[in-house]
Amino acid sequence: MDLNFEEVTIAPGTQFSPLEDSRSFRAALGAFATGVTVVTADTPEGPVGITANSFASVSLDPPLVLWSPAKSSHRFEHFAHAPRFAIHILDERQKAICDGFLKSKTAFGGLDWVKSQSGVPLISGVAACFECNLETTHDAGDHLIVVGRVIRAHHSGGEPLIFHGGRYGGFRGVDNAG
Ligand SMILES: Cc1cc2nc3c(=O)[nH]c(=O)nc-3n(C[C@H](O)[C@H](O)[C@H](O)COP(=O)(O)O)c2cc1C
Repeated sequence: MDLNFEEVTIAPGTQFSPLEDSRSFRAALGAFATGVTVVTADTPEGPVGITANSFASVSLDPPLVLWSPAKSSHRFEHFAHAPRFAIHILDERQKAICDGFLKSKTAFGGLDWVKSQSGVPLISGVAACFECNLETTHDAGDHLIVVGRVIRAHHSGGEPLIFHGGRYGGFRGVDNAG
């Protein structure tokens, strides 16, 4: 996209081309606070997981959700074609689980987890969990959009872990009246 237009003054001096300044682009994307998920699947090599914040809800009927594995990830092939997977929304007390699956696809050691009837690893104590069958995928630049059909959902009601600007924290509400 040609950015040689007059600078728009929604945030003066902070405009940039995402292709020319990918660092600033990443920082700007980080302004969007997200929860943190761990996506798990069963593979011929055993159970695997990955920390991901690309999760989004898509459709209520049918019940669809999505997430996006990076094509550059060593774990990509596991997740791009997994016929079944589970997306866990981490509780704010589960930062260690987030850290574990950032570094390793096999960070199940010491975790409280079970296998679902269809063999997908399910981690306990999460804020919510969506067991999915692969619905479809969409090619999207350096990522793949994976759409899952939710076949079973779990919701503890616990407080979620939040990721924003490269930092982690808990949710702080601002909607209190008065
Ligand atoms: C907060 C956060 C969110 C992430 N979200 C994603 C994601 O949505 N998709 C993805 O492929 N990797 C994501 N990652 C990176 C993976 O968790 C993991 O660190 C990366 O895949 C490691 O490289 P490897 O798979 O080659 O071992 C995220 C990392 C962080 C810190």
